[in-house]
Amino acid sequence: MKSHPYLLPDVANVDSAILRAVERDYEQFASTGPPSDLTDYISETYGIDLSADYGGIEIANPWGKASGQLSMTARQVAEDVDAELAFVVLKTVIAEDAAGSRAMEAWAIRESRMLAERIVGQSGEPGWTISWKGRGWWHSFDDYLKLIRESQQIARGSGTLIVPSCKYHLPTPNEDHWKSEEYRDTTPRLLEAWREHAADPAVPMPLEKDFSPTLAGSDRSAQQHKVLEWLQRVPQLIHEAAAPTDGSADKSPVRLGLKMFNALFDDDFQLEMLRAIHRPQQHATDFFIYGNRLFDPLREFDGHKGIAYGGPDLSDRNLRVMSRFQDEAAATKASLLRWSATGNIATGKMALEYALRGASSFQLHTFFQLPADEYCMTVGSKSQKAMHELYFHPTTGFIVWLHHLAHTLNLPSKPVRFLDLVGQGVRLR
Ligand SMILES: Cc1cc2nc3c(=O)[nH]c(=O)nc-3n(C[C@H](O)[C@H](O)[C@H](O)COP(=O)(O)O)c2cc1C
Repeated sequence: MKSHPYLLPDVANVDSAILRAVERDYEQFASTGPPSDLTDYISETYGIDLSADYGGIEIANPWGKASGQLSMTARQVAEDVDAELAFVVLKTVIAEDAAGSRAMEAWAIRESRMLAERIVGQSGEPGWTISWKGRGWWHSFDDYLKLIRESQQIARGSGTLIVPSCKYHLPTPNEDHWKSEEYRDTTPRLLEAWREHAADPAVPMPLEKDFSPTLAGSDRSAQQHKVLEWLQRVPQLIHEAAAPTDGSADKSPVRLGLKMFNALFDDDFQLEMLRAIHRPQQHATDFFIYGNRLFDPLREFDGHKGIAYGGPDLSDRNLRVMSRFQDEAAATKASLLRWSATGNIATGKMALEYALRGASSFQLHTFFQLPADEYCMTVGSKSQKAMHELYFHPTTGFIVWLHHLAHTLNLPSKPVRFLDLVGQGVRLR
C-alpha cells in the first residue's frame, strides 16, 4: 500500500468553542439551508477572511466549479452564483477557424452516460470518481458564446467570476504545423462575448486552456518533447490572438491559465512540465491549474477501454508533485506562479493540503456530482449541499482546519486570513 503525502494530522487542534459552533451550524443548516450571505456569515461568526485569488484576480472565497458537465447551462451557473461560488469554469469548448473547422473535432462528442462510482486509492483510502466517455462541448460554438453572455449577465454584481475554457489545436509528435488560425479566430470571439456584460470591460478575461493529450503512436521522448513545446507555445498564440496589435502578455486582455494534465509518464516529467511554464518568456502563462485527472488505459466503462479517473490516487499524485515543485522553487528562491487546485477535493481539509503547497483557489467537479444521500443537507441545490460539507463538517471542514493551521503556524488570528497560509507547507515538512 502506498502512503499519503499529507501534511495535516488526523485530528484538528482547535478551541472547543469553535468546534461547538461548527457542530451547531453543521446540524442546523442541514435542515434550514445556508444563511443568505454565507461568506459574510463565516467571516463574522468565525473571524475568518476568506478572500482568495484566482489567477491574480481577487475573489471573495477560494471555491469554484471546475470545467465539465456541471457548467453547461445558464441554470447551473445561476445555482452556483446562488451558492456563492467565487468562480465557475464553463465546460470546455473546442476551438474552430473562421470556416468552422475544428482540428480537435473528435473531442466534441456527446456523452451518453455518466456515473459517479466509488473508488479505492492505492493507499486504501475510499473516494469517488466519475466515469464517462464524453469529452468537450458538443453544441455549436455560437451556443457556447450564448452561454458566456448569459452567465455573465447572471453573475453580474454577484462577485462570481465566469471563466471560459477552450481546447485549441495541438500538433501531434509527427506534426510541426500549428493551426494558429484556430487561436486567432476563436480567442477574440470568446473575449467579445465575455465583455458584453462585463461590469468593467477593461478587466482581463480569465481563460483556461484545457490540455488533453492524444499522443498514442509515437515514442516516449518524442511525446515528451512535444508536450513541452505545447506548454511554451500556447501562451504566445493565445495572447497574440487576444491583442493582435500589442501582443505582450502584460497588456493582454486575457488572463491565461494552463490546465495541467497528468501525463502517462512519471512524476519527474510532471516537474519538467511545471518548470517549462515557469521559464521566463515574453508570452508567459499567467497562472496554472493543477492537475487534471489520471488516465488508466485498462479501466473500462460502457464497453470502452481506457478512461480518465480521479479519487484518492489523483490527489495523492498531485500533492506529491506539488510538494516537490514547491521545495525546488524554495531552494532556488524562485517564485511559483499563482495556481488553482483541482483533483479529489471532497473536504475542506483536502483543499488546505493543496493551499499549503501554494494553491490560492480550488476547483471541484466530482464533489458537486455525488448522489444526494452523500450530503447531510436535505434542502437546497447540490452546490449548496457541497459547500455546507466543505465549510462546516466538524472533523474535515474548512473552518476547523483553517483555525488549526492559523494556530499551528502562529499566523495572525484577528481575522484568520486564508491567503496567509497559502504556500506555508514548506514550514510543515
Ligand atoms: C464528467 C467530467 C467532465 C469533465 N470535463 C472537463 C472539461 O470539459 N474540461 C476540463 O478542463 N476538465 C474537465 N473535467 C475535469 C474537471 O474539471 C476536474 O479538473 C477534474 O475532474 C478533477 O477534479 P475533481 O476530482 O473534483 O473531479 C471533467 C471531469 C469530469 C468528471
